[in-house]
Amino acid sequence: MSTERTASLDAAIKRIGRAIGPAGCITERERIAPYLVDFRGLYHGATPLVARPNSTAEVSEVLAICHELGVGVVPHGGNTSYCGGATPGADGDEVVLSLARMDRIRGLDAANFTITVEAGCILANVKAAAEGADRFFPLSLGSEGSCQVGGNLATNAGGLNALRYGVARDLALGLEVVLPDGRVLDGLTSLRKDNTGYDLRDLFIGAEGTLGVITAASLKLFPALRSIETAFIAVAGPAAAVQLLERLRGASGEAVSTFEYLPRIAVELTARHVPGVSDPLGRPYDCYVLCELSSSRDSAGLRPVLEGCLERAMSDGLVLDAVIAESLAQRNAMWKLRESVPEAQRAEGASIKHDVSVPVASLPSFMEEATAAVLAIIPMARMVTYGHVGDGNLHFNVSEPAGGDRAAFMSREADIQSTVHEIVRRYRGSTSAEHGIGQLKRAQLARYKDPVALDLMRTIKRSLDPRGIMNPGKLLPGD
Ligand code: MLT
Ligand code: ZN
Repeated sequence: MSTERTASLDAAIKRIGRAIGPAGCITERERIAPYLVDFRGLYHGATPLVARPNSTAEVSEVLAICHELGVGVVPHGGNTSYCGGATPGADGDEVVLSLARMDRIRGLDAANFTITVEAGCILANVKAAAEGADRFFPLSLGSEGSCQVGGNLATNAGGLNALRYGVARDLALGLEVVLPDGRVLDGLTSLRKDNTGYDLRDLFIGAEGTLGVITAASLKLFPALRSIETAFIAVAGPAAAVQLLERLRGASGEAVSTFEYLPRIAVELTARHVPGVSDPLGRPYDCYVLCELSSSRDSAGLRPVLEGCLERAMSDGLVLDAVIAESLAQRNAMWKLRESVPEAQRAEGASIKHDVSVPVASLPSFMEEATAAVLAIIPMARMVTYGHVGDGNLHFNVSEPAGGDRAAFMSREADIQSTVHEIVRRYRGSTSAEHGIGQLKRAQLARYKDPVALDLMRTIKRSLDPRGIMNPGKLLPGD
């Protein structure tokens, strides 16, 4: 680090300490350590300071100081990024800004179906607060017990029921954002309609902290769910899954809130590695769907709709077997299986991941083509393709061959990824459907994003963050 950079960093640390006090500053090595590695263990960074402001005014002071001194700031939520988006660079010249202390629920307006929360609120707590007011906040993620709403919005998280309620962006009405120079953008509206110019809110959602720090959000709520039917269904294949989805959506009046696809290997790996998981159906099938129908009505009649659809699909050969949860325990067991897939895949060894989306109707042919292309490169690779078929987002993951040579497998990662992503491109799909870009996928973004879109993104970045202090080295290629 240059002497000038060291001097700026030292000055920033001193001034931040004075502005937010010792309770807001972590400088001890052991306490800083958890902020320096992402949860997948892919990235390791360094920082002399984790600032933990307690209010929007304190965030504003931190950013104003860093802006003036040209010091990088890395916003940090629940540290559940898959792409290293919240891990500082290795040079140790950036300050980490944790939102954890800003975890207040500022207000809940049941009649307006909105809740206003600070960025550091844990997602599960927001859902619980909504439930306490007989309302439902639909964003659902495997990591909801630790991820924070600010991070969910900054990465535009998707999750398990985007099919019905949309992604984080669709659930946000307004944001409060601290801009890189410390100014506070008060966009905390709870209005559904506000046609007064450019939609600035949407600039910060999905920006991964590169344009400013989201400090609070006003979010949409929905009526509490009073009827839920959950089924674990063996389907004849991906095409049968897509047809079943279409039928269920039509028959249930849009009550389908989850439609997740799982291959047989996902059931085997979760049963092997995760205590308490077992196969909900007695005998093995090639692939499955975890499907949930829900309604705010007490007697919504979802069970006969589901049973009727499944029976017809069975006689048409789309469905081979199915079980509908008869108790909360059975429902939880089905969900545990689904949510444990990433953990089980990690426990099984190395994997090459793709987080892709294509139009739902194209999923079957995409899966067939991409699977054949991967197996042409590594014939013994194990395909663990699962995910949110209801919204077209697949975790097209490839596990190393059983008992194979791990180094040889991983040496083909770039080859496999570019092969899969070229197929995604042909389908006009996305090469990062829900996990964002972070540090991991910047080169991928450079390769697959429309050049005009990239150019506009750079223009926006330069105009909002002219000194380039916000989350350096993330999202934009080569910034
Ligand atoms: C999931 O859907 O389980 C998550 O996005 C995690 C993953 O892709 O592994
Ligand atoms: Zn996912």
